[in-house]
Amino acid sequence: MKAVVITAPGGPEVLQLQQVDDPKAQDDEVLIRVEATALNRADTLQRKGLHPPPKGSSQYPGLECSGTVEAVGKSVTRWKVGDQVCALLSGGGYAEKVAVPAGQVLPVPPGVTLKDAASFPEVACTVWSTVFMMSRLSAGETFLIHGGSSGIGTFAIQMAKYQGVKVFVTAGNEEKLAYCKDIGADVCINYKTEDFVARVKEETGGKGVDVILDNVGGPYLQRNIDSLNVDGRLFVIGFMGGTVGQVNLGGLLARRLTVQAAGLRNRSLENKAHIVSDVEKNVWPAITAGKVKPVVYKYVPLSEAAEAHKLMESSEHIGKILLVP
Ligand SMILES: NC(=O)c1ccc[n+]([C@@H]2O[C@H](COP(=O)([O-])OP(=O)(O)OC[C@H]3O[C@@H](n4cnc5c(N)ncnc54)[C@H](OP(=O)(O)O)[C@@H]3O)[C@@H](O)[C@H]2O)c1
Repeated sequence: MKAVVITAPGGPEVLQLQQVDDPKAQDDEVLIRVEATALNRADTLQRKGLHPPPKGSSQYPGLECSGTVEAVGKSVTRWKVGDQVCALLSGGGYAEKVAVPAGQVLPVPPGVTLKDAASFPEVACTVWSTVFMMSRLSAGETFLIHGGSSGIGTFAIQMAKYQGVKVFVTAGNEEKLAYCKDIGADVCINYKTEDFVARVKEETGGKGVDVILDNVGGPYLQRNIDSLNVDGRLFVIGFMGGTVGQVNLGGLLARRLTVQAAGLRNRSLENKAHIVSDVEKNVWPAITAGKVKPVVYKYVPLSEAAEAHKLMESSEHIGKILLVP
């Protein structure tokens, strides 16, 4: 098969489509012929040599895919050859075929094309496991999403609105904010021209929001804490601004705040299967009902993976960038 190989750590040009050996499905795995895969920021870090795949995972990048089941391992009961599926991967999506543990496979939600289904596994599993399972965001609460126009953000806006939550977002330009508003965001804040803490306070009668999903990290730590309501929860999933921050613990104590962070890729197989199953139960109905839609900015041929990485690193996109073999 053909796969995108990281020929050396470096810039987008190190990504090259090469002929490689086909993967084989182990007893508890299915082999998927890939229809599409999607880019994630982690792929750009892996390309630079900063985010190695977990032990035993494919060395090729790609954390999610959609496609058709081509073979099943002998302990797999749920899936059969010919099924149209999408899957959460720990690597290997930038290829014509990928083997994946059966517990990380999901059916293509009705109403979504096989290609666009590749846009869901990583964002759905990340947002559901952090904001909903761990931070327990619930109906009637308020929720601030940093990077509202990102792949993660555009999914989180729609899912939170479906759950009856008031959604605040930050983004870096007016076009991105207009898109966030279109898909349901209630309060849209341009972090380049406005102080998001002041705006959150103004919009919540001085209280702050109940939950924050953060992709910036260190530089936002104190300001995120300042933006939280009593019993508020901050969930950090990315460090686009850096990993180091300083914080006054007084606010945490006074308002009983929780600060958490987690990654998806390094979780155990059992843990991932649990999340995937919870996502199918709680997120798939929202997609099936048309309340959560795929947000695809561009389809790029797999052979042009380097161009797709350049696009992601420019941050011009809104939503997901898909790669198509
Ligand atoms: N922990 C996990 O398991 C997990 C899983 C998936 C993703 N993530 C993380 O979630 C984040 C979003 O991922 P994604 O794939 O959705 O990425 P994405 O679509 O590329 O979006 C990232 C967005 O962040 C904003 N941004 C970039 N640098 C920034 C900065 N210094 N300060 C503020 N905003 C900045 C950009 O929009 P603006 O123009 O608005 O700045 C950009 O559109 C990434 O940090 C990623 O690593 C974590």
